[in-house]
Amino acid sequence: MIFRQLFDSVSGTYTYLLASRRGGEALIIDPVIEKVDRYLQLIRELDLKLVKAVDTHLHADHITGLGALRDRTHCITVMGEQTKADVVSMRLAEGEKLSIEGLSLDVLYTPGHTDDSYSYLMGDRVFTGDTLLIRGTGRTDFQNGDPRQQYDSIFNKLLKLPESTFVFPAHDYKGETVSTIGEERAFNPRLQVKSVDEYAALMNSLNLPNPKMMDVAVPANMKIGLAQDEIARRGWAVTAKDAIKLVGGPDTIFIDLREPTEREQRGIIPGSVHAPYPELRANLAPGGMLHALSMAGGKRLLFYCAFGERSAMAVQAAQDARLSSACHVHGGVDAWKRAGGPLTP
Ligand SMILES: [Fe+2]
Repeated sequence: MIFRQLFDSVSGTYTYLLASRRGGEALIIDPVIEKVDRYLQLIRELDLKLVKAVDTHLHADHITGLGALRDRTHCITVMGEQTKADVVSMRLAEGEKLSIEGLSLDVLYTPGHTDDSYSYLMGDRVFTGDTLLIRGTGRTDFQNGDPRQQYDSIFNKLLKLPESTFVFPAHDYKGETVSTIGEERAFNPRLQVKSVDEYAALMNSLNLPNPKMMDVAVPANMKIGLAQDEIARRGWAVTAKDAIKLVGGPDTIFIDLREPTEREQRGIIPGSVHAPYPELRANLAPGGMLHALSMAGGKRLLFYCAFGERSAMAVQAAQDARLSSACHVHGGVDAWKRAGGPLTP
């Protein structure tokens, strides 16, 4: 396995790059915008293909690298389902998996620092975001933070993991790089409390100044979606309302770009063909499934995904591959559902 812990010294942020092998797919957790060039250089050096960029929560102290990485690599952006970010490609919930080739991380909803805080468990290590830090915990006094929720996330989820589990947080300000669940249980001063009330009182008495970057970072991190309007302006988008009328019609093939778990959990547009986004380039190339489909019956390819972001990138890729009739459902299944479109299990 390839595992790198990268550091942004300005914000004290740790970013993690994971892959199962050289030459394979990679994912990155909590990237910082100023460091994007460095990540991409390392990804090239290790011969990796970045397919997912994940934020553990909406950060207040730095601008996320999610949007820039998506624009430069066409990777999928991922956050938890409670996120306030305008658009991410994929939203995950407790119990789902964050997967790439050769790696699968368990998704743990661990709110408290913010209401969109998630941790990701991969075998012997857990990425705790700002829920559990080394000898500390993330503040709970803004962004819908809640010390009681955080107590529950830490004591009833994270501390239930095996003692030897490595803890890799999103931040450290003292130069610590890694800890374990057992160490934190024993030595984290914030965790030496006897009750949730005691923990809440402790967290509510911290009186911390707001992060310097907060007024810039929070609004920026809420506006990371790809400009789907540009795709619409070129005439490559269909509104959900109009797309509903095309179901079962002779001229259009709905192409579902989502992952199997998203399809199972959220339903499928009837009659659609499954062509997962990570295999898009191969599917669009001559000899690929989508190339063949669009050539065969002269039918229009209508891409869709969860929120319209992967499908917007797919339209661009299809146009680049000279499949000029390709378009997508603006806003994805999210918009489709709101417009009353049918979904089958
Ligand atoms: Fe944070």
